[in-house]
Amino acid sequence: MAPTGQRPGRYRTHSPHFDAAFRRRLETLFRWRRDVRRFRADPLPSGLVERLLAQADAAPSVGNSQPWRFVVVEDEGRRRAARAHFAAVNERALAGYRGERARLYASLKLEGMDRAPVQLVAFCDPDTDQGHGLGRLTMPQTLEWSVVLAIAQLWLAARAHGVGLGWVSLLEPAVVAEILAVPQRWRFIGWLCLGYPEEESPEPELERLGWQRRTPLGERIFHR
Ligand SMILES: Cc1cc2nc3c(=O)[nH]c(=O)nc-3n(C[C@H](O)[C@H](O)[C@H](O)COP(=O)(O)O)c2cc1C
Repeated sequence: MAPTGQRPGRYRTHSPHFDAAFRRRLETLFRWRRDVRRFRADPLPSGLVERLLAQADAAPSVGNSQPWRFVVVEDEGRRRAARAHFAAVNERALAGYRGERARLYASLKLEGMDRAPVQLVAFCDPDTDQGHGLGRLTMPQTLEWSVVLAIAQLWLAARAHGVGLGWVSLLEPAVVAEILAVPQRWRFIGWLCLGYPEEESPEPELERLGWQRRTPLGERIFHR
């Protein structure tokens, strides 16, 4: 019989203890995680991107399928093409607003693709055999949700290193797939800009610029 606190087999569990001080720090991390669009141009330390991707890769996934596919965009031509595409989509988005809202929209900066030293694009591979289909019979979209969880983990892991992440979704999935020459079946989830932020704040930028305030949590909790 295995001694108390250990499991039979190759691995022993030594579960860490998360104390009150850690929980306070974690809450601070959650409060200061921001979507970042204004980056300093300095590069990230060597090996950090790989480390952050390893932390994202530890995210939960339906059936343990790990359906995330991350493309590290290094080629300047591809980056330029994506920026030009964003500008076109953003023009279209602006055209959908009128009056004061349009003026406000035009003043927003909705991506950091111009300066972020690291640009990662997250896709979901809907054809993966990994996980043998477990858990997705009635909701195949759980594969995409798994990728979103990996991004959330990456976001927090980056912030813990002082690195900001900005999620860009104002892009056409088919155009992104073409720019990056990835399989057409992969589903685009998000273009992620990473780098050191120019400024830090506990408030979302969209709140500070008067676009949208956060609303009280009570409005989103229901009891039955
Ligand atoms: C799925 C998703 C897509 C997003 N797309 C964009 C985007 O295209 N451009 C942008 O500036 N921010 C984008 N954001 C960031 C949100 O605007 C941001 O999370 C929100 O305003 C709250 O701010 P915070 O993340 O700093 O708390 C996106 C966030 C999510 C979760």
